[in-house]
Amino acid sequence: MAKVNDNYLKLPGSYLFSTIARKVREYTEAHPEARIIRLGIGDVTQPLAEEIVDTLHKAVDEMGRAETFRGYAPDLGYDFLRNVIAKKDYGERGCDISADEIFISDGAKCDCGNIQEIFSLENRIAVCDPVYPVYVDSNVMAGRTGAYDPEKERFGNVIYLPCLEANGFLPEIPEEVPDLIYLCFPNNPTGAVMKRSALQEWVDYANKNHSVILFDAAYEAYITEEDVPHSIYECEGARTCAIEFRSFSKTAGFTGLRLGFTVIPKELEADGVKLHGLWARRHGTKYNGAPYIVQRAGEAVYSDRGREQIREQIAYYRGNAECILKGLRAAGYSVSGGVNAPYIWLKTPDHMTSWEFFDHLLEKANIVGTPGSGFGPGGEHYFRLTAFGSRENTLEAVERFKKL
Ligand code: MLT
Repeated sequence: MAKVNDNYLKLPGSYLFSTIARKVREYTEAHPEARIIRLGIGDVTQPLAEEIVDTLHKAVDEMGRAETFRGYAPDLGYDFLRNVIAKKDYGERGCDISADEIFISDGAKCDCGNIQEIFSLENRIAVCDPVYPVYVDSNVMAGRTGAYDPEKERFGNVIYLPCLEANGFLPEIPEEVPDLIYLCFPNNPTGAVMKRSALQEWVDYANKNHSVILFDAAYEAYITEEDVPHSIYECEGARTCAIEFRSFSKTAGFTGLRLGFTVIPKELEADGVKLHGLWARRHGTKYNGAPYIVQRAGEAVYSDRGREQIREQIAYYRGNAECILKGLRAAGYSVSGGVNAPYIWLKTPDHMTSWEFFDHLLEKANIVGTPGSGFGPGGEHYFRLTAFGSRENTLEAVERFKKL
């Protein structure tokens, strides 16, 4: 008799963004006249930059000619893309990362979810609270956690690192030593950043305790301040304790195209085994490579024209973040994030729960955001807005907030 992986049954409810989509759909069906502004899921709205579109067209033409047609992509990624990433994302920032330490994929969400497969089920994970749900849920599915405690809203056998206003929304070194430490900075959902010296402390801690840091740098393109590292490899010693995830989604508008990569330095080991080889084995077995045309589009992101156009796009979203921050502050809200990140983290007014505020905002202002508690109990009484809307909608949303 076939049996299910009953670890899945430990997961309460549906995935956060699926629940939100369902609620918004129900509301829209009941109120077809409502002009909804969506600042919930971090999905980009600006069209792809011209340089990317031109490159995609060219690559499609190549695929249509026998002499330039390409079949399966190399499973770890095309050299043209791995080389340019090594040079521009890492070399130019003084990080020692070579092209063959970069694994191209169809996005950081899959990599963040899949990476736990190469580690023993005996490993104990540590996550920030609030946290991007993928890190926790993928470990639950694998059976690395205990049961869900509905009262505490936490899984057993997970070390939670509270990121609250009192600690500047930054995790503190825990009492118990975790084996795997998930860090995401600039942070989703709070928009907080870790300064270089703070990240260095985590790197030193991981090296001392033989832990591995799983560093999600999907939002690095939004950093504006000087002493905030774009990559964990800017910290000394990170090559022996850290894996980094990057995404083209928020950097270059690839949420619908799909492209990302994971960096695993060759000397990184767990239990005397090189992780680079394990991840390469996994890729070879379970993945057939991101499409050629998408990898060419990724390469175009690093061209002079591509970089210029993408800088403009990021500046546009940063401008949105600034509008939200200023507008909401003027309206009396307590807000943070938004300076080095596309997310604005606001305290719900009148001590409303995050979901109460979600309903209130949807019904009274027709604005969709993300309830902080959806990211963990540490997010209760908070609410996340994204800067990825159009400027027009962002300005309109701020006006609606003011009238609430
Ligand atoms: C978010 O809204 O948290 C992100 O868009 C989710 C993701 O990148 O998968």
